[in-house]
Amino acid sequence: MITARPRGTADVLPDDAGRWRHVEETFRQICREYNYQEIRTPVFEHTELFERGVGDTTDIVEKEMYTFRDRGDRSVTLRPEGTAPVARAYLENRLNAGPQPVKLYYTGPMFRYDRPQAGRYRQFHQLGAEVLGSDDPAVDAELIAMAMDFYGRLGLRDLDLHINSVGCPRCRSELRLRLREFFRPVHDKLCVNCRGRLDKNPLRVLDCKVERCDELAGNAPTTIDCLCPDCEKHFGRVKACLEGLGIPFTVNGRLVRGLDYYTHTAFEVMVPDIGAQSSIGGGGRYNGLVEALGGPPTPGVGYALGVERIILTMERQGAPFPARNRPDVFVAAADPSGEEKAFGVLFALRAEGLSADKDYLGRSLKAQMKLAGRIGCRFVVILGGDELKRGAAAVRDMAGGSQVELRLEGLSREIKKWGLGIRD
Ligand code: HAM
Repeated sequence: MITARPRGTADVLPDDAGRWRHVEETFRQICREYNYQEIRTPVFEHTELFERGVGDTTDIVEKEMYTFRDRGDRSVTLRPEGTAPVARAYLENRLNAGPQPVKLYYTGPMFRYDRPQAGRYRQFHQLGAEVLGSDDPAVDAELIAMAMDFYGRLGLRDLDLHINSVGCPRCRSELRLRLREFFRPVHDKLCVNCRGRLDKNPLRVLDCKVERCDELAGNAPTTIDCLCPDCEKHFGRVKACLEGLGIPFTVNGRLVRGLDYYTHTAFEVMVPDIGAQSSIGGGGRYNGLVEALGGPPTPGVGYALGVERIILTMERQGAPFPARNRPDVFVAAADPSGEEKAFGVLFALRAEGLSADKDYLGRSLKAQMKLAGRIGCRFVVILGGDELKRGAAAVRDMAGGSQVELRLEGLSREIKKWGLGIRD
């Protein structure tokens, strides 16, 4: 028997699925309010999309992708993130020909081959939003505000919003030079990864999590020190918009994020005290991405939030979740005549909009009542005996314990009126 799921994956069982739905539905509601439209892209893409989009010197592309050759010998990759696929879809489906900007959102699984630990999985789920076709800093602020609004509605507290500007390619080549110079004398003290990064992608040394690198980078030049006047102005507007909305933030010049497509704004939302995997969401602007994929110059900005880490944080902080769905009615049979009738009554109740279930194991009436209690039904309709001959049934209110006789004709209306307080 095969009983183990692959490492870094999870089964979301019915008790937890309600929590997931709550988080996803809250996100969809926010997206409606902020006027973002849903997009669904494939779970796998040509490998080249991520190599070119995310960047071939990033950790994701270098060591975390689920890449394989399909039966047609094409290299395909399970998407490690959603931004490059959305930019590809925008271009391929000529969304740039319609009214701009295009505001999109998505939800779904992403795949990264990393060492699993609490809050880090190989299959995880993101809620994402992307805006293509506008370089207005107010859009950056809208997205950040939207993410914070979402966390707030879920009841999350004590979140740290870090923002930064990683500048334009010109600012970054200046920073790269300055970083190489800064780290040259301490090159040998850096971790093995950072020694490699210094050549290929020195910005990443700024956010290395290894303690010694973190200390060494303490006085290093940051992105903020190298911003050109245009980038400075853009960042100033983003900060002013956030201040105008009353959203507290910390400017963190060492926040560079692990994906290569970022330009200008970068941001991340952290929860203190949940260990190494403290980032519950992040994003930023990516004005060069569509062009890198072969399209016309097109500004873009967006974010992705990790569902598993959000739920973990909600649980740790004691945030409220809605109660589990319970059926309204259990249809129980008291005797064989009731058994015959039960199926029809069950379907009639459902057709009238009630959620209803019955026993399928031939239980005694006593055992059926017990089952109805265990699954949390509000009412039990008991079919059989004299009541049934009169065209009626006994209906028990499981919460209050009272029992009344109701006619089968119009039963759902009577139950709604009597017990659920619903009148038509
Ligand atoms: P990211 O920072 O790589 O950005 O991922 C965003 C969020 O996904 C993280 O903050 C975290 O909550 C969650 N996450 C990432 N990896 C894992 C994992 N292995 N297990 C559990 N959760 C994880 C992006 O993916 C960008 N596409 C965001 C973006 C959108 N930038 C612009 N637009």
